[in-house]
Amino acid sequence: MDILLEAKELTKRFGAFTAVDGISLSVRKGEVLGFLGPNGAGKSTTMKMLTGFLAPSSGSAVICGETVTTGNVKARARIGYLPEGAPLYGDMTTREFLAFIAASHDIPKADIPDVVESAAGAVHLHGVMEQRIETLSKGFKRRVGLAAAILHAPDVLILDEPTDGLDPNQKFEVRRLIEAMSLDRAIIISTHILEEVDALCHRAVIINKGRIVADGTPSELRARSKYRNAVTMLVPAANAERTASALKRVGGVLRIEAASEGDFMRLTVVPQGNADIAEAIGDIAAVSNWQVSQFSVDPGRLDDVFRQVTEGDGVSTASFTAEAQS
Ligand SMILES: Nc1ncnc2c1ncn2[C@@H]1O[C@H](COP(=O)(O)OP(=O)(O)OP(=O)(O)O)[C@@H](O)[C@H]1O
Ligand SMILES: [Mg+2]
Repeated sequence: MDILLEAKELTKRFGAFTAVDGISLSVRKGEVLGFLGPNGAGKSTTMKMLTGFLAPSSGSAVICGETVTTGNVKARARIGYLPEGAPLYGDMTTREFLAFIAASHDIPKADIPDVVESAAGAVHLHGVMEQRIETLSKGFKRRVGLAAAILHAPDVLILDEPTDGLDPNQKFEVRRLIEAMSLDRAIIISTHILEEVDALCHRAVIINKGRIVADGTPSELRARSKYRNAVTMLVPAANAERTASALKRVGGVLRIEAASEGDFMRLTVVPQGNADIAEAIGDIAAVSNWQVSQFSVDPGRLDDVFRQVTEGDGVSTASFTAEAQS
């Protein structure tokens, strides 16, 4: 069975408040799952239960066939966990901390220096090995946490906002590292960066108020966007009103959004129910001589879907919005 991680109806209550409410999901070997949701949705709490740091109120997590409990050492040995925020033990140096983590995984003493070197190398820590962790910058603390998560070569990686606080070069490096590690592992990353989902994740789960509200590949999720098959074009500002009113009369058009760009106006023609309107618009543009540039068809937008499923309607702002006549 290549499912390495499974959550079954995981639930966490804090007093009367339910932070995580029946989350079920599975991640296969070779798969990177993006775990998304607004602040307070329950991502970190779910991850703490998956890693055995927090006991669920009900439900369970299974890693490589082992049920995770706070005391199941066998299950926890298979997991690499990057918690939110900075690593503990700020008064240790990077090297001391990584050696301490290696020892806690029962890595033989003679192997520890090599294991520490190789994990530190993977996230470029060599310049700060003898520096105390509490004196490191935010990004370097994040990298120390990542090195600690991967040094025992775990089968399952649970990374809570792994690129938070990293500079663009490091973000890129860490994504590459995650990609490379994913080949023979199951990985869950939580993130607020939607491009990261496109760049890295095979599948994404969006949660809101402790429940799963969407689950699919990035392109499946994008397909749920109101902007899928929307047509965007740049027209001279002077022609915009005239063009927009002609566009409103095209069959299948729901509304037109417009945003000013210097002497031009960017018009976004949103279809009814993702209808294919590009050809009809292209034909009219050609015969009407609209001086259209940058004509493109939208594949759908993850940010729009995220808003739709986490706060109801995701109508985007525009300098003017014209409703189509029905
Ligand atoms: N120990 C606790 N006691 C009481 N409430 C808690 C506790 N831990 C978390 N919560 C609450 O549970 C909810 C979910 O928190 P969690 O940290 O899992 O959210 P998150 O999705 O990780 O958010 P963020 O994107 O901000 O990291 C929040 O309302 C939080 O205040
Ligand atoms: Mg969190």
